[in-house]
Formats: sequence, structure tokens, C-alpha cells
Amino acid sequence: MSQFAQKPWNLDSKSEPDTARFGDRLGRILDRGITVALIGGLGAGKTQMIKAVVGGLEADEEIVNSPTFVLIQQYQGRLPVYHCDVYRLSDSDEFLALGIDEIFESDGVCLIEWADRVLDILPKDHLRIEISVTGPSSRVFEVTSSGERSAAISQKLQESLAADKH
Ligand SMILES: Nc1ncnc2c1ncn2[C@@H]1O[C@H](COP(=O)(O)OP(=O)(O)OP(=O)(O)O)[C@@H](O)[C@H]1O
Ligand SMILES: [Mg+2]
Repeated sequence: MSQFAQKPWNLDSKSEPDTARFGDRLGRILDRGITVALIGGLGAGKTQMIKAVVGGLEADEEIVNSPTFVLIQQYQGRLPVYHCDVYRLSDSDEFLALGIDEIFESDGVCLIEWADRVLDILPKDHLRIEISVTGPSSRVFEVTSSGERSAAISQKLQESLAADKH
């Protein structure tokens, strides 16, 4: 673990509004060039989460859907937002062929569904959110950072969510 990485922490979502709040807070905090890797099975809540993140980034969350045929969608919020769904890619090389490296190096925020399929080419410093389904309307989000910038985001997110409770 890098010297900057925070200990992974969990957030319990009891309902869709909880997920929406979590995503909104993350969207408000995200900074230029950050990659968020979303991991979780079919229907885990990756797209629900991304909708709220996009809203928190001040883009229209209504236009977010699962990019079934378009593998990378771009939205304009306070930062450019790239929404990728790599479910249908056969390997990381196909993702590279789409020019993802340029996106990683850009000022935009990159949000990736099924990121476990392309872990080998993600920026070393990225924020990872692993979603487990714990019931019909409950989810657990495990948040892991892997470098200085993602650790700062992770910490701010924890603080922001803690402040909501008061
Ligand atoms: N607490 C919760 N947070 C998020 N979604 C929830 C929650 N409880 C129930 N759901 C439901 O789970 C589903 C999540 O769907 P979503 O499209 O976000 O999943 P996904 O991980 O993107 O799946 P896919 O891999 O198929 O794209 C939705 O139908 C949503 O209503
Ligand atoms: Mg999805």
C-alpha cells in the first residue's frame, strides 16, 4: 500500500436516496484528472451511483444511462466527465485502442463501470468503489484509494458524509 493510501472504508446504503447522496457528495469533491473505478455485478448500482456523481459535478444527470453501444460518453459539468462501461470489451488493449490513455491524462473526471476488467491499465492513483448487494434495496460501498490524490478525495468524502449526519 502506498504511503498515501487511506485504509479502505465502507459506506452502507440502505436505499437509492442514500446512494444518490453518496454520489452527489463525491461529485462535488472530485477534482480534475481523477479516475473512479466502479466494481460490482449486474444491477449492483454502478450507473445509479454515476448519475448522482454527474449531478454533483453540475452536469445533467438525466442524460446518464448505461452506455450500451457507446463505450465512452462525455458530459459537460464543472469539469468534463467521461463515463465508460467496459462490460463489452474483451480486454484492456481494446480500451487503450479507444484512446482512454488520453482521457486519463486530461483534465476530465473518468468514471468506469466494470473497472475490474481493465485494472491493469488504470492510472496508479485512482479511487476504487466496490459495490456489494446486501439486500433488495441495500448496498455496501467499499472505498479504496491508491495514491495521494485519491486518498485526499476519499478523506474529503468521508468528512462530507460525516458532516451530513449532524
Ligand atoms: N441502495 C441502492 N443503491 C443503488 N441502486 C439500488 C439500491 N437499491 C436498489 N437499487 C436498484 O438496483 C439497480 C441498480 O442498477 P444500475 O443500473 O445502477 O446497476 P449497474 O451496476 O450499473 O448494473 P449494470 O452492470 O447492468 O450496468 C436499480 O434497479 C436500482 O433501482
Ligand atoms: Mg450500469
